[in-house]
Amino acid sequence: MEDYGINPQMMQNIERVMFTPQQIQTRVEELGNRISRDYAGKSLVLVGVLRGVIFFMVDLMRSIDIPLEVDFMSVSSYSPESRDMGLVRMVKDLEISITGQHVLFVEDIIDTGLTLHYLLRTLKTRQPASIEVCVLFNKDKRRLIDMPIKYKGFDIPDYYVVGYGLDYREKFRNLPFLGILKADVLQNGID
Ligand code: IMP
Ligand code: MG
Repeated sequence: MEDYGINPQMMQNIERVMFTPQQIQTRVEELGNRISRDYAGKSLVLVGVLRGVIFFMVDLMRSIDIPLEVDFMSVSSYSPESRDMGLVRMVKDLEISITGQHVLFVEDIIDTGLTLHYLLRTLKTRQPASIEVCVLFNKDKRRLIDMPIKYKGFDIPDYYVVGYGLDYREKFRNLPFLGILKADVLQNGID
């Protein structure tokens, strides 16, 4: 397996690479071009959820060539073993006002859809002019709440994936690709 110059200590936890940095970059640029066309002449605000979205947000912003604002929220962290189904706590709110603005909600990955559902509901009460969703990786196998996704990068199967901002217990975010975490890491912890 191509190791992208990543140190072996990190690589030994990865089953395989699902998307290369180049594949991700190409797709992100396509999304950015579409968004630039669709929102031309409008006041666009990109809203992201920390911390998984950081790589995607930076690359997406670079690919959008219309004026925009960006802001972030943060929710209580997701742990693969213990998840409060349906309960997402906002830890950090937006700092800019989205009332009357066209909001594009940018997410790294959607799994059950609970996080997004909760956050969209909250943002809609602030009466933005419009609100749409842009997600890079869509895992719809375990979806509990149907979500209208206007901009989608990739549909992916139900594996635990890391890299390109996505973590397992806060690790692996700095991998430049999207990789499948080895099953035994989920069971026995990081090697
Ligand atoms: P949902 O509420 O089930 O849609 O979960 C969404 C959140 O769970 C995402 O924003 C991620 O933070 C996290 N998540 C879901 N699947 C994965 C994964 O495969 N790798 C890393 N984080 C994930
Ligand atoms: Mg996230």
